[in-house]
Amino acid sequence: MTIVARQWLLNGHPRGRGILDSDFKLVETELRDPGPGEMLLKTRWLGFDPAQKGWMENIADYVAPMAIGDVMRGSGICEVLESNGGRFSKGDLVFGTTGWTDHLVSDGAELTRIETDLSPTAVLSVLGTTGVTAYCGLFKVGKPVAGDTVLVSGAAGATGSIVGQLAKIAGCRAVGIAGGADKCKWLVEEAGYDAAIDYKAGDVRRQIKEHCPNGVDVIFDNVGGAILNDMLAQIATGARVVICGGISRYETGSLPAGPQNYFNLVFRRASMAGFIVLDWAPEFPAIRKRLEGFVRDGHLAYREDIQHGFENAPTTLKRLFTGDNRGKQLLQI
Ligand SMILES: NC(=O)c1ccc[n+]([C@@H]2O[C@H](COP(=O)([O-])OP(=O)(O)OC[C@H]3O[C@@H](n4cnc5c(N)ncnc54)[C@H](OP(=O)(O)O)[C@@H]3O)[C@@H](O)[C@H]2O)c1
Repeated sequence: MTIVARQWLLNGHPRGRGILDSDFKLVETELRDPGPGEMLLKTRWLGFDPAQKGWMENIADYVAPMAIGDVMRGSGICEVLESNGGRFSKGDLVFGTTGWTDHLVSDGAELTRIETDLSPTAVLSVLGTTGVTAYCGLFKVGKPVAGDTVLVSGAAGATGSIVGQLAKIAGCRAVGIAGGADKCKWLVEEAGYDAAIDYKAGDVRRQIKEHCPNGVDVIFDNVGGAILNDMLAQIATGARVVICGGISRYETGSLPAGPQNYFNLVFRRASMAGFIVLDWAPEFPAIRKRLEGFVRDGHLAYREDIQHGFENAPTTLKRLFTGDNRGKQLLQI
């Protein structure tokens, strides 16, 4: 049986600007039959990450470059349709870096079988890169202790909403910064944050001072730029500043000026460190088990924003940069 896969190819490098529809090209590609040890897979869901824009631009130095004509790189969940002696059996659901293709032939070397009692999509959200990024960034870099105030930017997003809840599990006070009153309401009423700051309402620095009167012990920054600068103004002595992402600059051509308030790191004997979550990949299975336990015990809630239709993959990616996503951005195919 001949399978024709629909695939989104990279067609432009969106450097110094937002993502355009013309940065992608939809094609149909005839797949070869699975060889010995290979499987035919059908993609069921795709997961979206802000980092994909960096991969498209070809500037992310921690992964292989992407070239025009490559199948767009991304994570996905697939069902095994046929196995020619492959690692997985017909009917299994597997996840990994599948790319934007609705079918693929693979030996499954980079894929993992889904074994969770949660919904299968959890492996792309709370148990996926999102969850482990929140866990590793907070606990391995931020090192919170009970009683600390943890301030999170991009707090209503997939990663940020999990960071706040993990901080609460660790006995900390969690304060989140997000765009808009509805996201702030959700942070406090559903995601367990103690307080929320709407950066779109202005005077972020004053709002941080109001909600973190004793200073901030751990900053978990997903945004960078002016918000990072405002957060640095309110650090406590010995603070740990975790740089997870800098989405405020992902659509601009140049790097922002260095934060004016960086010298507070000296006055407050604080430290600032970035991280790439992949460095802890060998620990992911154990961390996923821990996160799953928190969800099962009712201590960790997660939200998924599921769009529909393979043809909508580019539009779905763009939602991360307009803030339209509510939780982990996914696409069901
Ligand atoms: N270091 C690592 O290893 C690692 C791994 C994974 C992810 N990350 C980073 O983690 C961050 C969060 O990723 P995610 O997948 O969880 O995405 P997400 O937070 O679910 O979605 C992105 C959110 O960013 C906010 N945003 C977009 N443009 C903005 C701007 N100009 N200024 C301020 N906020 C803006 C929007 O929320 P608002 O409506 O609140 O503005 C949007 O909902 C990203 O920066 C990503 O690159 C890092």
